[in-house]
Amino acid sequence: MDDLRDKYITAIADAADEAALEDIRVQAVGKKGEISLKMRELGKMSAEERQTAGPALNALKDEINSAIAAKRAALADAALDERLRGEWLDVTLPARHRRRGTVHPVSQVTEEVTAIFADMGFAVAEGPRIDTDWYNFDALNIPTHHPARAEMDTFYMHRAEGDDRPPHVLRTHTSPVQIRTMEARGAPLRIICPGGVYRADYDQTHTPMFHQVEGLAIDRDISMANLKWVLEEFFAAFFEVDGIKTRFRASHFPFTEPSAEVDIQCSWVNGQLRIGEGDDWMEVLGSGMVHPKVLAAGGIDPDEWQGFAFGIGIDRLAMLKYGIPDLRAFFDSDLRWLRHYGFSALDVPTLHGGLSR
Ligand code: DAH
Repeated sequence: MDDLRDKYITAIADAADEAALEDIRVQAVGKKGEISLKMRELGKMSAEERQTAGPALNALKDEINSAIAAKRAALADAALDERLRGEWLDVTLPARHRRRGTVHPVSQVTEEVTAIFADMGFAVAEGPRIDTDWYNFDALNIPTHHPARAEMDTFYMHRAEGDDRPPHVLRTHTSPVQIRTMEARGAPLRIICPGGVYRADYDQTHTPMFHQVEGLAIDRDISMANLKWVLEEFFAAFFEVDGIKTRFRASHFPFTEPSAEVDIQCSWVNGQLRIGEGDDWMEVLGSGMVHPKVLAAGGIDPDEWQGFAFGIGIDRLAMLKYGIPDLRAFFDSDLRWLRHYGFSALDVPTLHGGLSR
């Protein structure tokens, strides 16, 4: 018994790898292993002999099995250490020139829009992507049963059962940042709010997450005329077409009164869209004079102040300007797409340096 123990414990300790260890296991405690065969001989022994040999053989079998398990774990640890040593890499190395990443069209267009509005004195304001339904709806004059809530395909955050605080939502538009900024800074105000928004919708021109930029100007005597001038300046600079025509169509939004949807001049030549020429129109944004209830919700006295607001889809602007046909590709992280439509990181858009390549 001692000889058997010495033989196998030494062999296990010396096993160089998993395969060698498995061979030893089969030889010792496998079905036809040396110890298993010895156990079969128990039947031929006298009752007395069996009483000592049986437990001793069982103990030896257990000892060998646990030695094998311990060795197997040690071999696995050693293999992992070896692999970690081999796969080490220096993350502080500089990027290789030709593999440098590109700036995503959404980031590029956000920078372009920001540069244009900054030139007209608009500051950038931000708000949370998860907001209360008060900021996203009520404060914007969309009360609980207003049809606009149903139309928005809102994502509601989960609430534990019995928790009846008002729900949080993934903001469906950037308009709640109007309210947050009014509360934080008061009037007068001249801001844009770019950022991600969410709606449960998916097809060639809709993704569940997309980007908008909100505009808001509040002062004592702001009018629709100021809105029109600001938007025309913006379109001329953004699409790089002087004298681009706009069309204001009467519309309805709960948060503005009056409200207008704005179209820009365009043409279709052989199925190709050209912005800033021709007799067709392309809808690009919603806008209007801020509703007195919205000013009041933001803590601003509507008898003293008034202003305009607008909301534009950033991804849509990028598609129109850079001829990108499918919105879904924006968020697929396909490297070939990103290399094709991406911008050089050193191409920072400015009005003096040029907005695009
Ligand atoms: N929040 C609107 C939407 O997501 C867009 C919008 C329309 C914003 C009119 C405005 C506005 O500020 O005045 O569809």
